[in-house]
Amino acid sequence: MGEITSPMGRFDQSKGESYMSVLIANGTIVTSLGEYGADILVEGETIVAIGKGLDKRAAEVIDASGKYVLPGGVDNHTHFALPFGGTVTRGFETTPAAILGGTTTIVDYAPQPRGMSITDSVAKHDEERASGKSAVDYAFHGIVMDVTDGLFEEIPKLPERGIPTLKLFMAYKGTPYMVDDATLFKALQAAKKSGVTIMVHAENGDVIDLLQKQCVSSGQVDPKYHAVSRPPAVEAEATARAVAIAAMADAPIFVVHVSCREAMEAIRDAYIDGVSAYGETCPHYMTLGVDNLSKPNFEGAKYVCSPALRSPEHHAAMWQAIGKGWLQVVGSDHCGFDWKEQKHMGKDNFTKIPNGAPGVQYRLALLWTYGVETGKISRQKLVNVYATAPAKFNGLYPRKGDIAVGSDADIVIFDPQWEGTMSVNNSLEGVDFCAYEGMKQKGRVEKVFLRGNLSVDNGKFVGQAGQGRFLKGKPFGAAYQGL
Ligand code: URP
Ligand code: ZN
Ligand code: ZN
Repeated sequence: MGEITSPMGRFDQSKGESYMSVLIANGTIVTSLGEYGADILVEGETIVAIGKGLDKRAAEVIDASGKYVLPGGVDNHTHFALPFGGTVTRGFETTPAAILGGTTTIVDYAPQPRGMSITDSVAKHDEERASGKSAVDYAFHGIVMDVTDGLFEEIPKLPERGIPTLKLFMAYKGTPYMVDDATLFKALQAAKKSGVTIMVHAENGDVIDLLQKQCVSSGQVDPKYHAVSRPPAVEAEATARAVAIAAMADAPIFVVHVSCREAMEAIRDAYIDGVSAYGETCPHYMTLGVDNLSKPNFEGAKYVCSPALRSPEHHAAMWQAIGKGWLQVVGSDHCGFDWKEQKHMGKDNFTKIPNGAPGVQYRLALLWTYGVETGKISRQKLVNVYATAPAKFNGLYPRKGDIAVGSDADIVIFDPQWEGTMSVNNSLEGVDFCAYEGMKQKGRVEKVFLRGNLSVDNGKFVGQAGQGRFLKGKPFGAAYQGL
């Protein structure tokens, strides 16, 4: 029993599997390094050849004339099934939203229940919530939500379990998540030797707590006061402190969801000074502003996320930062809380609104429409921040994040001519609103392959729940950044 090649693909009888060959012909391939016209031959789950005029006989041919062909996106920052703020985000059954938006891999934060080790928390998150449900491939970051006795001994062992990244919170005072500077320093020391990258939510939790109390005691309870209690300065101070602590520990640090110019500059300047300081921003910090938080009838609650949304001056700084490579990654920070039930938990007090906004479906569309189409970033830069750099940081490259021979056949065929509007009516995020409702969209994800399986066709999800697989990340991702 061996391998039979037929005009439509290969059949490996010993495995009982049939392998379709697919040729994506005549498209313009865009990678983080450049773009060129070529065909891509996929066999089974893998890209096996890239070239001009590849033999079309042994494959199903997809004509990508006039289309861009991009690597599947890698979303460095999602929160599926996250218990947070007294409620829980939508689970992995809503991951078709990711692939509909061109994301074929997510790196999700595995929440840590009280007293549980990070590795057990990750295993629990996978077994109970992700496995058999995810429509995209997935890896995990650990999150410290409770500093256990064994934490610092456990950190160097995380890569053995395929977990090369760990997030700590400098904010959310009053919860067991918020860590002090000594804990951050010790975690950085423990992480360094084994190539674990410490990620940090950088906001000054003590000052926020005080500002929140001052707002509430003076009757300032509407969603817009979320931004008043979390001004850029609280983020800038904590970011500068985090990168300084990383310098003291001589360890890499990755600052997640950077939203303001001053925080971005602290990372940029530390990097120039020789610190391995890196960062991520998110589409909402490039396109949505404080005006959204001021929407009447409690609509502002939809936009309560931390850090808070910023003014256009900061949006410009975020676009500049990704264009220049001062921030390397754009992640969604997707949190599927609905408005009617969950956001209303803070109807009378903004501090009770669960923090986080949905957006996993719109990362590529927003980067394209408001970045590429406006000339703020190149197509290559888009591919880098949405796929290649996050794959590298998370130890998934070159299997993920690139169009290359030997890489997984995670491929997006993108129609740049399409025009439409973002709306909850075409969202698969599973919540009752779209954070980008009514915003124009230029270009659309037409087809997506996940490891060779057609999962989006004509802008519709055609894949299967549970088709996603767990991926082990390799350590020393931060050291991979010669970007
Ligand atoms: O508002 C946010 N970002 N919620 C999710 C948790 C976090 O801090 O990333
Ligand atoms: Zn955070
Ligand atoms: Zn987050």
